[in-house]
Amino acid sequence: MANAKAQAQQTHKNSPANSEWDKSGWRTKPALQLPTYPNADALAQAEAELSHLPPLVFAGEARELKRKLADVCEGRSFLLQGGDCAESFKELSANKIRDTFRLLLQMSVVLTYAGAVPVVKVGRVAGQFAKPRSEDTETRNGVTLPSYRGDMINGAEFTEDARIPDPQRMLKAYASAASTLNLLRAFAYGGYADLHRVHKWNLDFVQDSPLGARYAALAERIEDALAFMTACGLTGQKIPDIIRRTDFYTSHEALLLPYEEALTRQDSLTGKWYDTSGHFLWIGARTNQDDHAQVEFVRGIDNPLGLKVQPTMTGDQLMRLIDKLNPENEPGRLTLISRMGHEKVEDALPPLLRRVKAEGRKVVWVCDPMHGNTYKSSSGYKTRNFDHVLHEVQGFFAAHKAEDTHPGGVHFELTGEEVTECTGGAKKIGEDNLAERYETACDPRLNANQALELAFLLADLVKKTKKDEEST
Ligand code: PEP
Ligand code: CO
Repeated sequence: MANAKAQAQQTHKNSPANSEWDKSGWRTKPALQLPTYPNADALAQAEAELSHLPPLVFAGEARELKRKLADVCEGRSFLLQGGDCAESFKELSANKIRDTFRLLLQMSVVLTYAGAVPVVKVGRVAGQFAKPRSEDTETRNGVTLPSYRGDMINGAEFTEDARIPDPQRMLKAYASAASTLNLLRAFAYGGYADLHRVHKWNLDFVQDSPLGARYAALAERIEDALAFMTACGLTGQKIPDIIRRTDFYTSHEALLLPYEEALTRQDSLTGKWYDTSGHFLWIGARTNQDDHAQVEFVRGIDNPLGLKVQPTMTGDQLMRLIDKLNPENEPGRLTLISRMGHEKVEDALPPLLRRVKAEGRKVVWVCDPMHGNTYKSSSGYKTRNFDHVLHEVQGFFAAHKAEDTHPGGVHFELTGEEVTECTGGAKKIGEDNLAERYETACDPRLNANQALELAFLLADLVKKTKKDEEST
């Protein structure tokens, strides 16, 4: 412990608070997964244009989310993070944004009511346009082209032209993020998220499934409780804001650093730097080397941060990253997103939980049960199986119970649409069904039925954890 403290103090000397960081510093570090733009002038011009545009989110909102994540860290709330693997320009529509938003609202109601825990809601949305890729190139029918890297970098179409990185795409990503965020703010604060509408959030195609019926029953109990409160005189202006509106935050992977740097601004109130492209930024598993560009960049911004943790990460590597990303051991600053895979979680996670706990580090632990469970189906589609996803979530909770640490939340790839991208779940999607509606721009997502089913199963796990923690 003493050692950890000394180490933390030593790192603190180099911390951004002492101004040994600047938003361009990442440019001198090794960087993986960044595109090479063919025209440096065009890139510089797009960066300059972006750097004059208004912030998408505000420093005060990022601070508020950090305070809420500190509650998660202390075991008082639960983090629900979810959305597309990759957003796409052509899929952007009001209905799509609404459906993802209301699915997250439904899941959150299930967790709050059935799991008896307040939920912090964070979308993978309004900025999730850049993707790390395992392969630099893609080959189809003997033709090899550079890989698609997300709509803010290049185009998904399999043509030479589309795959050339175009810096103007960053401006389009900014505009798409701005319009998405605008609608999300309206949904969150403009009446849509009023708990009195809990019944109406049931998505049409969910309604006639077993999950829909289960949700409707829960919504009825909530409506009864609200009717009781009304009868007690809680009406009109007396209804508190927490019933009438919700807080919803945005997040994406901090991958494309020219975009992130251009949207990084100094807060006039505190003098601290915030990346105003989203409330919460995370570092992916392919770019989480402690001496590389992405880590260098995010260590200096004051937003709450996420860090993907894969099964090959050692305790020493993780401690070096925590030293860099949370040198002041601030609760809510750092969320570790465990993505081990259902077969590895039981072996790989406990030693890391033990080490972080032994060193006295305040972090939020959440489970991403998607990225360690991707496989190619016999029909050739990249998919994930519902049972594997559930198994990893269960393994995550079991590891925390064994190590006496707190399971703080989940990170899902999901959509409010009735796609067929992951197999299994109550509707028993088989590998043969994948072709029916396989629409993702990148990784396979849970559809609304599968996500809601998981929320109910999670609620039981959360409730049980709460009971166990209270009794010790
Ligand atoms: C992702 O979250 O879409 C992703 C690529 O995850 P990871 O970095 O954990 O592989
Ligand atoms: Co993904």
